[in-house]
Amino acid sequence: MSIVYLNGAFMDAAEARIPVEDRGFLFADGIYEVTPAYRGRFFLMDRHRDRLLKGLCELRIDADTSGLAGVHDRLLRENGLADEEVAYVYLQITRGVAPRTHAFPKAPVAPTVYAFARPYRRPDREVWDRGFEAVMVPDRRWARVDIKTIALLPNVLAQQAAVDAGVADALLVRDGIALEGAHNNFFAVFGETVVTHPKSNVILHGITRGYVVDMARDLGLEVQERPIQVEELARADEAFFTGTTTEVRPTVRIDGRPVGKGGVGPVTRRLFEAFLERVERHAAGG
Ligand code: PDD
Repeated sequence: MSIVYLNGAFMDAAEARIPVEDRGFLFADGIYEVTPAYRGRFFLMDRHRDRLLKGLCELRIDADTSGLAGVHDRLLRENGLADEEVAYVYLQITRGVAPRTHAFPKAPVAPTVYAFARPYRRPDREVWDRGFEAVMVPDRRWARVDIKTIALLPNVLAQQAAVDAGVADALLVRDGIALEGAHNNFFAVFGETVVTHPKSNVILHGITRGYVVDMARDLGLEVQERPIQVEELARADEAFFTGTTTEVRPTVRIDGRPVGKGGVGPVTRRLFEAFLERVERHAAGG
């Protein structure tokens, strides 16, 4: 049994009901956030909350977010995940329920707030050590993907293209630039220089991305936040994706071509080790 949160109450997922006129259902008019917890302690919660607040502001959804940290904690407890090595809480807020017209409801309606918790299974170390593959997929998304909206159809289709190709990740490409994954950010490594697309309206400003950028600098690596041309990938030594449900995932082949020597490289390894060390320290109360 899975316990979810819906509009102020905790209940069995099978009991949770959303009216058909919910604007999330009709228009994908809402935003979401996914926050990881390591042994029951939420990681970078403030950054996830700030991105949520920014999204609500951009969409002009007036939601009371004051109790949401408590909702996150309780969802872990209710689902037996408070001691889980890694778990995450998915939170979604839509503009609410109103007769279908494109513009916002004239009289304000209460937003719909839904959240659930799930365990996250990190790949076994042998699997991680072999690395993962990606395929390039044209980016068909709108021009404000920096807002974490629930309108994810192009991401769904891109990830399905990866699944159909038997690989882990989709690398979204637009105008010859490798932007990010369907649900994660993308990095290429040239020697000891780590490169990722700058924060703008064409990528999601991943919380893990920002954390890895800071961590790379702490480790003495050079970081460049600039667009990555697809042609440059032939010269890249390493590549990896980052995200809440990806952590740091090495990419050893893109479209069947090896990245660098075709194995997991030393920079990706160092970053993942440092990431694991830090989340373990966080889990232990540090
Ligand atoms: N995805 N880019 C996209 C398009 C994403 O959807 C995500 C997150 C990221 C990584 O962001 P973060 O490091 O904050 O998780 C980048 C979530 C996990 C999802 O859709 O399930």
